[in-house]
Amino acid sequence: MAADDIGNVRLGTRRGGQRTLSTPPWRAPVVRVRASTAEDEAAARALAARLSLDIAPRPTPGDDAAPWTLLVDGHRRMLARPDGVRLELDFVGGRTAARQQEAGLARQPLARALGVTRLRRRLHRLPTVVDATGGLGRDAWFAAALGCPVTVIERSPIVHALLESALDVAARTPATAQTAARLTLLLGEASQRLDRLGARFADVIYLDPMYPPVRRRAAVGKGMQFLHDLLGPAETSASLLDAALATAGCQVTVKRPSGAPSLDGGATFAGQRTTIASPGTRYDLYLHLDPIAGTR
Ligand SMILES: C[S@@+](CC[C@H](N)C(=O)[O-])C[C@H]1O[C@@H](n2cnc3c(N)ncnc32)[C@H](O)[C@@H]1O
Repeated sequence: MAADDIGNVRLGTRRGGQRTLSTPPWRAPVVRVRASTAEDEAAARALAARLSLDIAPRPTPGDDAAPWTLLVDGHRRMLARPDGVRLELDFVGGRTAARQQEAGLARQPLARALGVTRLRRRLHRLPTVVDATGGLGRDAWFAAALGCPVTVIERSPIVHALLESALDVAARTPATAQTAARLTLLLGEASQRLDRLGARFADVIYLDPMYPPVRRRAAVGKGMQFLHDLLGPAETSASLLDAALATAGCQVTVKRPSGAPSLDGGATFAGQRTTIASPGTRYDLYLHLDPIAGTR
């Protein structure tokens, strides 16, 4: 399988190396679960039952039927698109793992946007983070690599299943086990999960909902193209930012494309708003005025 590393995302093709990209209008794809080998069949059946998906039979030679397939291969899971392109999240190899070794992580725009150094000075410990829109897990892994305890929420059961296996593999790998141990993964709609976690559950709540549709698909990374194909157009309600503001002990950080409007919500927010810009991206920060009292 040919494979590219795109952050923690490995994309590869099976059939003749051809990559074709699906086009709108978007329809929710039907995904089936498939075992890679006979040994994986029990795990594939259990995953299919958990996700309420059908099982796809293992392909026979010459079988060209290619629906969306969630492949189970030992501890690994991959999502295959009908064009043969596969998505696997990987925190052990690739750029996300390599980035963890880079010097100056704490000076990168995302670290500044999460307020890691500022809050560490104020709290005398590293801030706790909820990444309420887990996605490909890159930003959550980055925060965990900085040393922050991170709770990740993802509402798509399929994306959650991909994150779960990537974290499982990372936890079994000595070089990444420590970072993986800082991450807790939850499945669900973030506003509901945050309501249940309660006020000041974490110091920082991070939101990176799907970007509004872009005219040129190439303008978004290939991992994000894959998510757009799987999840469809962005849908974010004001209740997400409001739930985040009610849950964050110190601040909410929202990632937006440069030039995009702010996320809806926050009408009654009385704290300080500021932004951090990086190429192509803007982070909107909502800083609570009395961030310390009661923060865990
Ligand atoms: C743009 S991606 C996030 C990318 C992520 N920051 C990363 O580093 O890979 C958005 C993800 O958030 C999830 N999502 C969006 N809104 C959500 C919500 N209200 N609750 C839970 N998950 C949500 C989507 O299913 C999608 O997987």
